[in-house]
Amino acid sequence: MTALRHFLDLDRIETKTLREILADAASLKSGANGRDSMPLGGRVLAMIFEKPSTRTRVSFEVAMLQLGGQAIRLTPEDTQLGRGETLADTARVLSRLVDGIMIRAARHQSLIELAEHAEVPVINGLTDRSHPCQLLADIMTFEEHRGPIAGRIVAWSGDGNNVANSWIHAAVRFGFELRLACPNSLSPSPEVMAWAHDQGGRVTVTADARAAVARADCVVTDTWVSMGADAGDNRRKLLAPYQVNDALMACADADALFMHCLPAHRGEEVTDAVIDGPRSVVWDEAANRLHSQKGILNWCLG
Ligand code: CP
Ligand code: NVA
Repeated sequence: MTALRHFLDLDRIETKTLREILADAASLKSGANGRDSMPLGGRVLAMIFEKPSTRTRVSFEVAMLQLGGQAIRLTPEDTQLGRGETLADTARVLSRLVDGIMIRAARHQSLIELAEHAEVPVINGLTDRSHPCQLLADIMTFEEHRGPIAGRIVAWSGDGNNVANSWIHAAVRFGFELRLACPNSLSPSPEVMAWAHDQGGRVTVTADARAAVARADCVVTDTWVSMGADAGDNRRKLLAPYQVNDALMACADADALFMHCLPAHRGEEVTDAVIDGPRSVVWDEAANRLHSQKGILNWCLG
């Protein structure tokens, strides 16, 4: 039996495959495949949401529709998951009814458990550890604006969270330098950092936001309080020096882009002037969720 094409994390998929997915995404976006191209005709994707979502939900649903298939949204509240049916049993049942499963999971372990028991491809739509779908949209966006990301410098300023972990995976897979500036107590996953160093990735962590951003080609941040994170006051105090504002952007290259996966908390991790400013490409990132996920869906389910 051929191995299932799960899209779990960027460290589990080789660069060549990721590049093929991005090329397919670009070709679908440009219309090169023809408007009538419906490669997933009749296929159904189940989407399990243990946490809220705007972009991930809508982009997967529209992507399935435009590729000729359909998506079904499930939550613990409206399924037997909320009454104690295990993810393993849910995976066995869904595998007999749908062609793929996307999950936004509160715990990364739930994604792994689902994938272990599913007989159809499983896609990571965000966990507390990572957000790989976001990163494919972000790489696509950077390259549309600035050309190849290999050899460029990306700076992350803020919480060393799930999205930061996926940027670390991406730095290795796509060959760019990543400098993360985070408070010591909110550093990215040591295990993800160790993987990046084992792979020879150019990924560093500092507590100094200005040093990380110096001459960067792209400055990235994300919410200070991720879904499920402790929102204590101390967290905001710790993260205040990492706000992306005009003063911090002034340390970056004059052509540096600003990126954010959204939703943004204006006045916290980013100011209005930066997110609404000329270097911000946040709406393009959101738009590219649709196109990059078409590439992912084609690879997993096609
Ligand atoms: N960036 C992102 O995944 O957004 P949602 O939480 O709205 O899906
Ligand atoms: N780090 C954020 C990303 C939201 C898309 C969270 O997990 O809430």
